[in-house]
Amino acid sequence: MSSMAPDNITGGLDIEAIRADFPILQQKVHGCRLAYLDNAASSQRPHSVIEAVSHYYEHDHANVHRGVHSLSHRATDAYEGAREKVRKFINASAASEIVFTGGTTESINLVAASLGQDIGPDDEILISHMEHHSNIVPWKLLCERTGATLRVAPINKRGELILEEMLAMLNPRTRIVALAHVSNALGTVNPVSKVIEAAHELDIPVLLDGAQAAPHAAVDVQKLGCEFYAFSGHKMCGPTGIGVLYGRQDVLERLPPWQGGGEMILSVSFEDTVYNKLPYKFEAGTPHIAGAIGLGAAIDYLDSIGMDRIAAYEAQLRDYAGQRLSEIDGLRIIGEAESKVGVHSFVIDGIHPHDLGTVLDHKGVAIRTGHHCAMPVMDFFCVAGTARASLAFYNSAEDIDQLIDALGVATEMFA
Ligand code: ALA
Repeated sequence: MSSMAPDNITGGLDIEAIRADFPILQQKVHGCRLAYLDNAASSQRPHSVIEAVSHYYEHDHANVHRGVHSLSHRATDAYEGAREKVRKFINASAASEIVFTGGTTESINLVAASLGQDIGPDDEILISHMEHHSNIVPWKLLCERTGATLRVAPINKRGELILEEMLAMLNPRTRIVALAHVSNALGTVNPVSKVIEAAHELDIPVLLDGAQAAPHAAVDVQKLGCEFYAFSGHKMCGPTGIGVLYGRQDVLERLPPWQGGGEMILSVSFEDTVYNKLPYKFEAGTPHIAGAIGLGAAIDYLDSIGMDRIAAYEAQLRDYAGQRLSEIDGLRIIGEAESKVGVHSFVIDGIHPHDLGTVLDHKGVAIRTGHHCAMPVMDFFCVAGTARASLAFYNSAEDIDQLIDALGVATEMFA
């Protein structure tokens, strides 16, 4: 299969200059140019993020909110500065609505644990069939603990939410709707505004799992109107181990803390504890200061390109990849939603996804294979797993051609 990347797939971005900002992309793997197409699992970091984290450790590290000395002031300013960058990035109305967590998983666990203190056997939690395990298991645990019922809205064969069925499942017993903004396994972009609107008619709060959305398009939590929005730093060019829970101020005010420790209190005695104000009530212990600073630098970097330009470019690349994948005999795309991001999950007749992944790796192409932490999605499509190429704005059409060439080698090898 020959390479045929058209020159006009750039979305007006200088892709070569962007790629030069990412040291990790400059290497060879098994002697081949690296085509990193596993961005839904974790993205790469530009030099400015690596530099921000290393500058912090070389010059400013101390604990935050705890010292009167200069380093503690600097660390606190940098940490709170990062919170303000996150606020602006998702257009939250106040920095107190931004809780730093370990990532999307922890953000969802926080809400499940905290909200769960007021949930009982008559209550229902509504999710969808396309959720990542991190938006299933915390709710399953909550249901096991409280006797509440987990309800699951169905999807169709294209991998889209069946909206009318989800809306019909909303009822006065529903205590929260927890829904992926974008599916990690299928790339589907869900009609979240319609779900939020319908849920709000019954005063039901909505949590959006934004792990796969925030890296790819501008997010405006005020416009969305959701009560909670969760996302991870490492999928948007930031460090691992840092993430965000956005919670609307009035909702967070009402929720009890989920973890106890330092920082989340104003005063403690053996008789009485007074909790700290938002967001610190939900940030027990020493936080991941360097992670937050790195996430702030990642946001600066994304903003310097522009989320709208990133979304437009990735849409071009998604379409190009979709078209090229369709040329491969025996390849079936899993997830053909009308609205999707640059995630292409696929299977090829007669080739196990892990075998595909291994052959591709030897050609310098990094993809994820397996169930993608979304086993119910795999069950729905009757596959044990898929191969998944997931795009970021630093990918080029050349990466796609390299993927297609490598798939050509794999299909010949297993023919
Ligand atoms: N959630 C990550 C993925 O989709 C790990 O691969």
